[in-house]
Amino acid sequence: MDMLGGGLAAIGNTPLVRLGRLVPDGAAEVWVKLEGGNPTGSYKDRMAVSVLMSALERGDISAGDTIVEFTGGSTGTALAFVSGVLGMKFTAVFSDAFSHSKQQAMEAFGATVLIEKSVDGAITHELAERMKQRSLAIADQPGHYYADQFGSPDVRAGYHPMGREIAAALEGGLDVFCAAVGTGAAMMGTLDGLHESGLAPDAIALEPAESPLLTTGVSGGHKVEGIAVFPDPPFLDRSVIREVRTVAQDRAFEMCRRLAREEGIFGGGSTGLNVAAAIDIAVELGAGHRVVTLGCDNGAKYIGGHIYSPTA
Ligand SMILES: Cc1ncc(COP(=O)(O)O)c(C=O)c1O
Repeated sequence: MDMLGGGLAAIGNTPLVRLGRLVPDGAAEVWVKLEGGNPTGSYKDRMAVSVLMSALERGDISAGDTIVEFTGGSTGTALAFVSGVLGMKFTAVFSDAFSHSKQQAMEAFGATVLIEKSVDGAITHELAERMKQRSLAIADQPGHYYADQFGSPDVRAGYHPMGREIAAALEGGLDVFCAAVGTGAAMMGTLDGLHESGLAPDAIALEPAESPLLTTGVSGGHKVEGIAVFPDPPFLDRSVIREVRTVAQDRAFEMCRRLAREEGIFGGGSTGLNVAAAIDIAVELGAGHRVVTLGCDNGAKYIGGHIYSPTA
């Protein structure tokens, strides 16, 4: 994938930063891979370029086609961006359960956005199923291609470089890698890249306590965008995961606000959840160890929403 044009060349090679003030004395080091610096502000750019370039190389799509996906916004924005640069159109099936600014971001990159109504703004499994069925029906038309963020192996492969970049940045390796799970692709793909680099940290998957699908199979409404939607995340391989932990969503949102104010790290709810868990793990491990987690996206998309304006 060399010779990528336009903004495609700016995907990846993001900074890995060590937390300072938020980590208590005597705890392990906590490092965060800051993915908000990708062109659309999230790690989803990595999977979008992998999926569409691989489909192009196979001859499954060509310029002028329409890419279709159901999305909470981050994947949709990334697919809209990459589709546009490759001369394709993009249609997103979206919902009012997600930030309106994510809809606007998709539209800024040229997407057509269709809205599937939620019940009281809650992200639920039932809503995701309705969105999926609608996007499959659209993708059935000639000249349309379903990106398949929950099934395509190119999605997981798109995150291999993220693992390799972490390995290259950390001399001496890491003890634990933890990440919240939506499809599980970012977590598993990063682990693949770490493994390719000869590193084998303990892997801990994370989910919001309000929708403990992975630990109990019970789905609940929650407000951490991008994660905890499917009972059986398609890319999550439990055989390589040491454990799954739950984090209360209010802790995740509080961590977002503290990250912005005390560390200068501006992220969304999944980043707050990842860091809250990473600090817990660092306290348990103690000094002399290292925990790495993901700063999934940039917080700008969440301004005016419940995370940064909790009383609005
Ligand atoms: C903001 C955000 N964080 C985390 C995730 C989870 O990533 P993955 O689907 O690779 O598990 C997503 C996925 O949509 C997301 O949009």
